[in-house]
Amino acid sequence: MERLFEINPWKLTSNKLEKNKRLQESLTSIGNGYMGLRGNFEEGYSKDTHIGTYIAGVWFPDKTKVGWWKIGYPDYFGKVINATNFIPVDVYINDHKLDLSKDQIDQFVLELDMKQGILTRSFIWEKNDLRVAFRFTRFVSASVKELAVVNIKVQVIKGNAQLSLIPFMDGNVVNEDSNYQESFWDEINKGSSPYPFLTTRTKENPFGTEQFTVTTMMGNQIKGIRKQREQIKSMYVDEQFHGSLSVGEEVELTKFISVITSRDVSDQDHIEKASQVIELAIANGWEGVLHDHKEEWDDRWNNADVIITGDDASQQGIRFNIFQLFSTYYGEDPRLNVGPKGFTGEKYGGATYWDTEACILPMYLSVTNEETFKQLLVYRHNQLDEAYVNAKKQGLEGALYPMVTFTGIECHNEWEITFEEIHRNAAIAHGIFNYTTYTGNESYLLKQGIDILVGISRFWANRVHYSESNKQYMIHGVTGPNEYENNVSNNWYTNTMAAWCLDYTRETVDKIGEDKWVELGLSNPEIENWREISQNMYRPISEELDVFIQHDTFLDKELRTVDTLEPTERPINQNWSWDKILRSPFIKQADVLQGLYFLNHMFTREEKERNFNFYEPMTVHESSLSPLVHSILASELGKTDKAFEMYERTARLDLDNYNNDTEDGLHITSMSGGWLSIVHGFAGMRTYTKELTFTPYCPDHWQGYEFKLNYRGRLLKVKVNHQLVEFYLEKGDPLNMVVFNRTVTLKEYHSVPINKRNAEDLL
Ligand code: BGC
Repeated sequence: MERLFEINPWKLTSNKLEKNKRLQESLTSIGNGYMGLRGNFEEGYSKDTHIGTYIAGVWFPDKTKVGWWKIGYPDYFGKVINATNFIPVDVYINDHKLDLSKDQIDQFVLELDMKQGILTRSFIWEKNDLRVAFRFTRFVSASVKELAVVNIKVQVIKGNAQLSLIPFMDGNVVNEDSNYQESFWDEINKGSSPYPFLTTRTKENPFGTEQFTVTTMMGNQIKGIRKQREQIKSMYVDEQFHGSLSVGEEVELTKFISVITSRDVSDQDHIEKASQVIELAIANGWEGVLHDHKEEWDDRWNNADVIITGDDASQQGIRFNIFQLFSTYYGEDPRLNVGPKGFTGEKYGGATYWDTEACILPMYLSVTNEETFKQLLVYRHNQLDEAYVNAKKQGLEGALYPMVTFTGIECHNEWEITFEEIHRNAAIAHGIFNYTTYTGNESYLLKQGIDILVGISRFWANRVHYSESNKQYMIHGVTGPNEYENNVSNNWYTNTMAAWCLDYTRETVDKIGEDKWVELGLSNPEIENWREISQNMYRPISEELDVFIQHDTFLDKELRTVDTLEPTERPINQNWSWDKILRSPFIKQADVLQGLYFLNHMFTREEKERNFNFYEPMTVHESSLSPLVHSILASELGKTDKAFEMYERTARLDLDNYNNDTEDGLHITSMSGGWLSIVHGFAGMRTYTKELTFTPYCPDHWQGYEFKLNYRGRLLKVKVNHQLVEFYLEKGDPLNMVVFNRTVTLKEYHSVPINKRNAEDLL
């Protein structure tokens, strides 16, 4: 654990310039769904730093490089790419270049204000008899997606100074994970009129994927000193402001930046669109654009804030999660999705993983409106053709959704993941189930969802094989969610979810009209075959231990629990060889338990409890997707301490650097974990039955908590403390709900006591 920022309900504040700069940079990343950047310093930093600026949907297909090519490999590894660095402002004081890695400074404060979406940094720079105060403020506008703003205030406190401020834009950027440090960009255009601008385009690629053109333009507004010149070099454009300052004098620079891409604007219109954004921002002024930005964040918080009383660390964690999620994705663009690192790093490549259906959708269903969360389903439907291509590439029928993608085509090149982690297909089907049960609206399911379900079922029907000796269907050669084992046979989760997909598809085809039946080319024998497979699917089970077995040979391992590991061995993925990890019993993330979470309605409490007790002690949670599943199940099983431990681990995963890897970027897709642990876990919300259901309790560490929900055209507020749960209907028609097994009708307000009897009724 490593905690850099003070505990504060709305802010991340630190007075320390960290040695582990990358961690601080990751944690102070900001974005607006369209673009975002790591918390790099505007004036640069000459020691270790990771400069990262990312634009949603702008990516590059880097050629797959492997020693031994295996048929079925994707041709390219799709990468989130580092784009033109647009925030820099070089600062010189009496010809000395400001550089916090070496300079002497005092009163350093770095602060991310999550309520307002603003990053600030202030300090006093000192040298000999000179003292100069700096304040940097930065935000990526939540109200104008193409706009980012940097404001710098400089004041001489002691002595006289020659000051130079050089705002610039730099296209000389590379990805840390590029094959040979090569750049992914070519320069297309640059100039200084009407404002300094730089246009770059992603390099041509042999795979026929889209190239992206990006124009960044800056409109610099300065008070206190004057412009002297500008410079235009390869992939670089600047403006230079110089002046003499005496004690007490102040300078203010506002750098308005517009970022336009060929995803939205054709190349010939880039300059016009970029200058419009700048002109509007200048007309509105620094205070004006800041005001609009804050208002937008206010609206978001009004609908989605979670309030925790009695524990500021938990409060900070959940707000940090919500802030970073909304900075990454707010559903405005159906072509986009939620990448594991969002705009905070390059690791993982790809924009979309099964994480979206596993973690993002269940939260977005409740905190955004239907148009927003439906985009996530539309995205998958739009990529169905590509899913058929992925399956074909493996020599299989049906649709195989990618593990990692930008366009629907698989773009990740580790065979044990690409070829084997096929369980991802089931998560896509489960997303459709989740959406349909939550909204109570079957029209998407019956018109579009069914196309996906049929494609997925055809894949499973083709991927299973019949074991003559066992007289059952099996799935060999897979990697389950636990990536610390590869190429296993009959992963319980994969087999169970595959059978469920087949059943869900069968149930759904019964409800579609004849036209759809014909359009999909369905036949009775095909559906009968799905029934035959799901009913005869082999699912490993141990009679002796009375648990589901993770896969065929799991119990042959030398089983031991995580508490037998030395602290110095953890995380094991940073201390052990891959060979040792693969042979060990340690589980990276929920596997059997992921199934019990997804198909929660199909298993008994006893089954959940036995499997939880067996697998949880062997789980190292080295995937960020793991703790949330454990927290929710632990709440359901009354293991309240474990539930809370897992809540903290998910909600503060990055703030406390639990897995010692946050310096690579934040774990964006699991940032829903805190919210899900509270709402599905502590409040026990379930949405797959006809009525919305709650079984709430309040963790011992808290006095209470409250959250809001969008549910079938209504806005609900739920407040929980140790004695009472209160429901407020803030918008919409009365609603029947089930609270502790009893049906209640919520008109305006309803409360139910939380007591032993209610809890016991559930057992
Ligand atoms: C996990 C995967 C996940 C990926 C992206 C990996 O570490 O094992 O389940 O999809 O990270 O978050």
